[in-house]
Amino acid sequence: MAENNLKFHGCDIEALVKEYGAPLYVMSEDEIRERCREIKRDFTDKYPDTRAAFAGKACQTLDVCRIVASEGMGLDVVSGGEIYAALRAGVDPSLLEFNGNAKSRSELEYALSAGVGTIIIDNLSELEILEELAEAAGRRASVALRVTPGVDSHTHQFISTGQLDSKFGFSVEEVLDHAAEAVLNSKNLELTGLHYHVGSQLHDNASHLMATDIMLGLLGDLKKKYGYVPREINCGGGFGVHYAGDPERTTVAYFMDPVMEKIERFYAESGDKRPVVAIEPGRWVVAEAGITVYEITSVKTNAAGRTYYGIDGGYPDDPRTALYDARYEAEAVTKVNEPHDKKVTIAGKCCESGDILIWDIMLPDMQPGDLLAVYATGAYNYTMASNYNRQPRPAMVMIKDGQPRLSVRRETYEDLIAREL
Ligand code: LLP
Repeated sequence: MAENNLKFHGCDIEALVKEYGAPLYVMSEDEIRERCREIKRDFTDKYPDTRAAFAGKACQTLDVCRIVASEGMGLDVVSGGEIYAALRAGVDPSLLEFNGNAKSRSELEYALSAGVGTIIIDNLSELEILEELAEAAGRRASVALRVTPGVDSHTHQFISTGQLDSKFGFSVEEVLDHAAEAVLNSKNLELTGLHYHVGSQLHDNASHLMATDIMLGLLGDLKKKYGYVPREINCGGGFGVHYAGDPERTTVAYFMDPVMEKIERFYAESGDKRPVVAIEPGRWVVAEAGITVYEITSVKTNAAGRTYYGIDGGYPDDPRTALYDARYEAEAVTKVNEPHDKKVTIAGKCCESGDILIWDIMLPDMQPGDLLAVYATGAYNYTMASNYNRQPRPAMVMIKDGQPRLSVRRETYEDLIAREL
């Protein structure tokens, strides 16, 4: 194989595309397992009474479910569909935690009947519906309360009121005034504890720390008011990874060591047994384990002097640039050692000016038929993909020990119309 060719976890990318076609999601099982093992080393093995669940929304294929479950992780699910997929993958339902701000009655019924481990209640309507459903089913449901601690992480500025205007969860005051009491008085619901999640793609632990302080303050108040000590505190996910222009991937220790120190100190002082501490990372586990390989389909320079490499995918397989101004690094699959002296823009194939995958990246001279690999697409790509413009979703290949296997087959044109009557 020519040394000008890009390799990913021991596989020649050009050879993969010859076998499986483009665009192609390529993931590394070894890398996913390494991240799970880092979570074990730095968190679940390091601290007793801790637990980690993979946030399925980042990349919930059956294959990924089985991989993370075999590494001892639970699964954070956010819909009936994610519950179904987790069960079909053979994940133990007691290891599922069900998040979401607008769960439907039928999803809650499904979660109850499936035996989902914890339902994380977001609001009072959900609490009432669940109460009624649990009563009807004659089951006692384990529930946590989702709290919005009022920490704004997205701007990396900590405006204590900013995030209070959020669609997620209860405010600290609501929990203290009535939500906790409603669950504590319920014979059908058992309050396992509190849950918070401050944001995603964070490279600064300050918002986790500030939120932890707020949560511990709330737990202190709940103890005073109701004598309540939780069984579990769930700190959510949010650990950042490397995309173009970002620092290197964060470590679990960077976030959780100081969080654990705060929680352990709080319980050492209170004399109560420290609750189980749980985390829910998604992106961090899978983002860098994945790349997407596209074929260049067109090359042109417009009147303004901008050169576009058009690709055979884009918005339908990765809407993140259009939605969040995401920044990716990329490489020419068969021209790794050629001078990267062309400043180009990678244009997706949708009939939308907004379908640009990468603005202004330095790449070699490339021609239609050349392949482009885009890095760190393992999270929130497959799961956010659509069929816009009737684009079939790409196949996914999973690499383990240098050997590729088909993990998700490519959609066919027939798939695209299969549900239409
Ligand atoms: N737990 C809860 C309750 C969450 O809402 C989320 C993500 C996670 C855990 C996992 O967060 P992570 O560790 O992946 O940062 N589609 C966006 C990301 C949305 C994240 C939503 N919630 C993107 O592509 O960047």
